[in-house]
Amino acid sequence: MKRRIAVLGATGSIGRQALEVIAANPDLELVAATSGSTPIDGLAPVTQVGGDATDVLERTQPDVVLNAIVGFAGIHATVWALERGVTLALANKESLVAAGDLARDAWRRGGGLLLPVDSEHSAAFQLLAPLSREQVEALVLTASGGPFRGRSRDELEDVSPEDALAHPTWRMGPKITIDSATLANKGLELIEAHFLFDLPYEAIEVVVHPTSVVHAIVRLRDGASLAHLGYPDMRVPISFALAYPARERTPLRQLDLAGGLSLEFHGPDLEAFPLLALARESGERGGTFPCAFNAANEAAVQAFLEGRIRFLDIDGAVADVLARVDGSPARDLDELVEADRSARNLVAVA
Ligand SMILES: NC(=O)c1ccc[n+]([C@@H]2O[C@H](COP(=O)([O-])OP(=O)(O)OC[C@H]3O[C@@H](n4cnc5c(N)ncnc54)[C@H](OP(=O)(O)O)[C@@H]3O)[C@@H](O)[C@H]2O)c1
Repeated sequence: MKRRIAVLGATGSIGRQALEVIAANPDLELVAATSGSTPIDGLAPVTQVGGDATDVLERTQPDVVLNAIVGFAGIHATVWALERGVTLALANKESLVAAGDLARDAWRRGGGLLLPVDSEHSAAFQLLAPLSREQVEALVLTASGGPFRGRSRDELEDVSPEDALAHPTWRMGPKITIDSATLANKGLELIEAHFLFDLPYEAIEVVVHPTSVVHAIVRLRDGASLAHLGYPDMRVPISFALAYPARERTPLRQLDLAGGLSLEFHGPDLEAFPLLALARESGERGGTFPCAFNAANEAAVQAFLEGRIRFLDIDGAVADVLARVDGSPARDLDELVEADRSARNLVAVA
């Protein structure tokens, strides 16, 4: 029996690579595909453009939902899969960050698999799988540092969307590329890791590692550390999640160790890139603070991409929203959608 996959966000960077992975694996079958607005007639047996992606999921009842929608718009599909115990291959980190405890409760009720497609979390999932919680001292997420690594705040004054879209190691959609330049992406990943692996925030570290070869490190209590390495290529975590627990071949070349592989790490610059610290603080405060962080960031990134605010205004807009919301927990999805909407509306842009 083939594994039946629905790819949500099939026209995006992750979605297109997922279609490639599915086409290369005879055990996988594409049963449904969605996009936000790009026409996708004929891409899959069932397709949908815009609207609620859960309509397609209801109609096709896939074995695996690959959620590669960008932003909070992916929330309904995430909750749909978690609630029903349908395997969720999750690229759409924003939905897990925003839904937090609600998602974790739905996951517990549904009892299905939640397989991260973020490269760092896929690595962490694999490293943590054989370990008990007491053995783990900390999880270390690596960050490339983005195109502005090493710059001071003053040097970020005049950067344009084009500058920020030029990522050194990953080719990705525009929103996550800007998030990588501000380090908001690593902030979202920190909160994502907390919910995925049930780790307290103080046990999740972030280090800058410019070449993105080491995806995650787990520090063990005996002083040893385990690392997951590979050249950066999203087809690896996508393939891992779709074929799990099998491991299929991918076009990725093996690490060239004899050719000389040096690994550089250093701490993040929280002064130049305050969104990482703001994300940590939002996660620690809990409730709907992570939802507000995500909503404000999405709105501010959109405004930056449209030339309405400057790069350095993004973190200010998020900080301002976080200071104004009460962050009280959402009791259901409707309340969460409302928390997202009101945080978004607080982003003051011209
Ligand atoms: N790209 C990466 O390497 C990478 C790595 C790790 C995690 N992720 C995560 O994966 C997700 C997707 O990222 P991406 O880089 O693939 O983004 P992307 O290239 O911008 O693609 C986004 C996809 O979502 C669809 N979409 C946009 N707005 C939508 C809406 N309101 N409702 C339904 N569908 C909508 C788009 O359809 P249209 O074409 O019609 O706009 C497109 O198919 C993000 O959460 C990102 O953080 C990405």
